[in-house]
Amino acid sequence: MALILGIESSCDETAAAVVRDGSELLSNVVSSQIATHQPYGGVVPELASREHLRAIVPVVREAARRAHVKLEDVEALAVTQGPGLAGSLLIGITYAKALSFALSKPLIAVNHLEGHIHAALLEQRQTQSEDLPLPALALVVSGGHTHLYLVNRSTQGSWSYVNVGHTLDDAAGEAFDKVAKLLALSYPGGPVIEALAEHGNPHAIAMPRSQIKTKLKRQEKAEDPSESHDFSFSGIKTAVLRFVETHAMQASIEHRRAKFVGAGNPTAAEFLPHLDQLTLDLIASFQEAVIQDLLCKTLRAAEDLEVQSLIVTGGVAANGHLRAEFDKRAGAEGLRAFFPSRGLSTDNAAMIAAAAYPKFLARDFANEHLSAEASLALGAG
Ligand code: KG4
Ligand code: ZN
Repeated sequence: MALILGIESSCDETAAAVVRDGSELLSNVVSSQIATHQPYGGVVPELASREHLRAIVPVVREAARRAHVKLEDVEALAVTQGPGLAGSLLIGITYAKALSFALSKPLIAVNHLEGHIHAALLEQRQTQSEDLPLPALALVVSGGHTHLYLVNRSTQGSWSYVNVGHTLDDAAGEAFDKVAKLLALSYPGGPVIEALAEHGNPHAIAMPRSQIKTKLKRQEKAEDPSESHDFSFSGIKTAVLRFVETHAMQASIEHRRAKFVGAGNPTAAEFLPHLDQLTLDLIASFQEAVIQDLLCKTLRAAEDLEVQSLIVTGGVAANGHLRAEFDKRAGAEGLRAFFPSRGLSTDNAAMIAAAAYPKFLARDFANEHLSAEASLALGAG
């Protein structure tokens, strides 16, 4: 029986959670900084560090309280080492180190991306649904990453990851956030775009596809572009900008910006009366293009690598339309797609505590020199 306290502070959520044996979620506390970053339309690193500093102690205490455990009762602490914002990571790491020293409990360093993958594994163990067949292909799709990993487990129980694809420019979540900012919608962009896309026609406006092929041809790469499992979202983002310019939408955008300035974090329902049909069609077409791009690339990689299942995780995996499309299209290929619940898709510490469990069993502990790694990579590849 191992109770692990996870701590996550890589970006704009301060989170702590208690997980038993990597499979039973006892508490999961997330303190969001959305209100702080909303006026800027993106995360401001200095403000994020300040907010983590404020929240970390109460969030950890609340996680222990909700799990009905004393901090002394946990067997180990786990903390996100990277990737993420250096100043934000440092706050979680410094606090976890101090707590580990004070409680004389081992500390486990976890890669944030490995955490996202384990969110799906935790979900599957929690719900005791069918086993997740390996090897799996994991699409980690968030505000900072759009990465494909080949995931497997050794007979000793350790997990391995091979990076087989990544975005060459913007992450998919970043594209959602930038398009929302361009259209004077709220931050983060994903949830508001998902809700508003329901009211638009996803096939109304043509969006560019196959950006990678074009790019590789231009650079005269020797390899066959169809072999690439990389992503690119800057073309779709630029197409939205071009559409706004060529359809004279700036005036209505500025009107909306002025209307909602200082209004906190307006909901999709509040925006709706201030959006014309063309803008709603643009929003729906943008979302459709991103989702189809993620889907096509992931399914092609799954076929090439002959995997047994798919894992789709990270903030963008909270998108209901994306989930439905992956379920449908992967299902048609005979592949099951596994997702974390929506709450475990976005940043949280339960995924960090779950990913730490195999390391706990292997006694893979961090020492006092542990420090933040803003660009920490996951696995080989
Ligand atoms: O995993 P996450 O919480 O933080 C990072 O590690 O980046 O992901 C945040 C990202 C943001 O870009 C946000 O716009 C996006 O996930 N996101 C969504 C949805 N909910 C959050 N994107 C599309 N649809 C959603 N429902
Ligand atoms: Zn994340």
